[in-house]
Amino acid sequence: MKNSAEDILQQFKNKINLSDYLSNFISLEKRGNSFVGKCPFHNEKTPSFSVSNEKGLFYCFGCGVGGNVFTFLKKYKNISFQEALKIIADYLGIELKTVSSKEIGKITNLYNLLANINQVFKANLENNSFARNYLKKRGIDHSSIKKFNIGLCNQDLGNFNKILNLKGFSENDIKEAGLIIESNEDKRLFLRFQNRITFPIYNMLGKVVGFGGRTIVNSKIKYINSPESILFKKSDNIYGLWQNKESIKNRNNLFLVEGYLDVISLYSKKVDNSVATLGTSLSQTQIEKIWSYTNNPIMCYDGDNAGLRAMNQLSLKILKFLKPGKTMKFMTLPDGDDPDSFIQKNSKEEFYNYSNQSLNLSDLIWSNILDETDNITPEYSALIESRIKKITSSINDSNLSQEYYKYLISKRNDYFWNKRKIISKKSLKKSDNKESFEKFKNINEYIVLSFLIFEKELSTDFIEQIDAIMFNDPTLNKNKSDILSFYFSNSKDIDQIKEKLNESEWKKFNYVKNTHFKHLDYENKKLFLRDIILNLRLPMLLNEREKLKKEILQSKESENSEEYIKKYENLSKEINKIKSK
Ligand code: UTP
Ligand code: MN
Repeated sequence: MKNSAEDILQQFKNKINLSDYLSNFISLEKRGNSFVGKCPFHNEKTPSFSVSNEKGLFYCFGCGVGGNVFTFLKKYKNISFQEALKIIADYLGIELKTVSSKEIGKITNLYNLLANINQVFKANLENNSFARNYLKKRGIDHSSIKKFNIGLCNQDLGNFNKILNLKGFSENDIKEAGLIIESNEDKRLFLRFQNRITFPIYNMLGKVVGFGGRTIVNSKIKYINSPESILFKKSDNIYGLWQNKESIKNRNNLFLVEGYLDVISLYSKKVDNSVATLGTSLSQTQIEKIWSYTNNPIMCYDGDNAGLRAMNQLSLKILKFLKPGKTMKFMTLPDGDDPDSFIQKNSKEEFYNYSNQSLNLSDLIWSNILDETDNITPEYSALIESRIKKITSSINDSNLSQEYYKYLISKRNDYFWNKRKIISKKSLKKSDNKESFEKFKNINEYIVLSFLIFEKELSTDFIEQIDAIMFNDPTLNKNKSDILSFYFSNSKDIDQIKEKLNESEWKKFNYVKNTHFKHLDYENKKLFLRDIILNLRLPMLLNEREKLKKEILQSKESENSEEYIKKYENLSKEINKIKSK
């Protein structure tokens, strides 16, 4: 981590209560959520100086002085900002990057300019109904526009210059701030964010350091960001963290999403604890910043293949940075949805439902290892062990690396040598439940349907396959259609389905739940269900293959035959896979 003023303030807040630190200088007493004392900056008899540890700020209701720890030191010791910074850095035992006074001047000017530009953009949006309608259509409400200070760049360079000239900035300043670009073709100058909705990017001091801009005129380039500068480094910044930090702290939870509009759209729907990485993959600085707010952030990327790939890549990348107690969870949205489109179609509760099913990092890693396995053989078991070694050796923290090794190896052992033996008669008889096995001629069928009743969310991925299975037993088929209609009703009230089923059937569903999957964790439940469905599908697949064979033999060299043969081969592959388990 680079130790800029922002970082130092951040680390101070994470490690030290402002009231504890200020007690070195003045005496404070706890009152409710804050601390109060006599103000050192004016003469008073009754205390009006108050300190909020949560905010890391002080304020005097008597004389109106307030600010953070730097402000306090500057005033109290009558020193410069740089000196105050140095004191805090020393106090925290961290090294301070020295900044020349020339650089400080440059930084101050740039902050000032960007804040002014932001004001212009904001005013533009207020006066432009086309852009406001665009946001409205995208489900962004007024409070979100205010919270994120969304703006618009709609004037040309000349007019933009005029406005900022009045505030004392030159075209050159604006150019230096990265707001002007030169066209490749005719060297013409124009505004970088021309015809775009603007999203100011804030650092953790609450200052604008750059912008993102989304086209509203269908430009081929959907988003443009400010170039990097002394203030803005894309891979260090986290969009939305400044705005959402309070709810992130309160909820002790954070969603990591991909884009500006994901953060804002979620906020509009009252999911006010998301942040974004702005199109880059998560850096070490970013994850450490995030971990200073919450130990267990949830990554929520698009539900398409690119999103899944990003998630898997991140899961491997992040291993290196893991520390005891610090991790990440992974949430998958339905295919085709990003957080924005999901929340616009569904409720906040449904979003949280999905998030409750997030995978632990360790389980995601395990499920990816498993995806590379298609056989239960000693050879594969050994291959998996070598994968596990490779993965765990990339974890820098040695304790954690060992824990991961133990965890993944135990998963491997379970998978290869225990869990996969699908419910033998013997194991059932051993169970201490009084019910006899004889009642369960169709145990696998009962288990699958029991998942539909008690594990609705988890069954979603399998619903098409389950729907396609034909049962031989008429009672079961009747149960199945009742249960499916309950499943699709979106009701969570299990009593509804209980009433429909006959009592002894209901007991069976309950029984198989309690004996077969209630105790499993989410991932193992999924594996278990997958296996059982495969077993149930086998007769169907065999049947299908037989039919296909006939068709291939009977057809005369039609153009379809190649396609049929491919289908046949795929079916055979699937059948062999099931049989080998
Ligand atoms: P997406 O392409 O997923 O856009 O880029 P989005 O957030 O869903 O936006 P809408 O819904 O179409 O308006 C995700 C993020 O990647 C960065 C931006 O930060 C964007 O929010 N990005 C994307 C760029 O920087 N440049 C691009 O051309 C595209
Ligand atoms: Mn989108």
